[in-house]
Amino acid sequence: MKFFIDTANLDQIKEAADLGILDGVTTNPSLMAKEGITGDKNILAHYKKICEIVEGDVSAEVIATDFSGMISEGKKLASLAENIVVKVPMTRDGVKAISYFTDHGINTNCTLVFSAGQAILAAKAGATYLSPFVGRVDDVTWDGIKLIEEIVSIYSIQGYITEILAASIRSPLHIVQAAKAGADVVTCPLSSILGLFNHPLTDIGLAKFLEDHKKAAK
Ligand code: E4P
Repeated sequence: MKFFIDTANLDQIKEAADLGILDGVTTNPSLMAKEGITGDKNILAHYKKICEIVEGDVSAEVIATDFSGMISEGKKLASLAENIVVKVPMTRDGVKAISYFTDHGINTNCTLVFSAGQAILAAKAGATYLSPFVGRVDDVTWDGIKLIEEIVSIYSIQGYITEILAASIRSPLHIVQAAKAGADVVTCPLSSILGLFNHPLTDIGLAKFLEDHKKAAK
């Protein structure tokens, strides 16, 4: 399973990249706004900076909601760097745009996916990645991980090659569950990635090893 970080914060992206386990980045308009990045020029420049830090795929989301707007915005984004993936919402125009980008060799990430039916549409359009939002499904008391399992099963039966990117991850447990469910990629906040390191027995064990080493050296 590939690990992406879900942020537009350059320090956090660098920190995750330094761990040596980062495969890519996803952003969205809310995450860009959180970093105070506004205006077309600044947004494009910020994506370029992210692409300089990370070799893997970087998802950059279109703001336009109509087909032709998505196409011109997506082309601009895709021309920034080879590893840009154009992120497109799951709408009628979005699916049409994904199909267009697929035909023109531009990688896409279909975002805001909440059902197996939507996952089928995105795969049919040739999306490179599909982003089901695990945490937001949980928020409305449905089961986000069950949705991942369902999509994994359908894609395997149908032989769809779109990669399932578990998004809206809220905890280290979600990461483990997404891996178990067969997600191809997980995109998460830095805190969830770092949470995977924690185990009290590791801390206790390491302290004991160092203490024994010190004693033996006396
Ligand atoms: C996916 O690519 C989205 O950017 C993101 O995972 C949404 O997460 P949230 O529900 O925590 O906002």
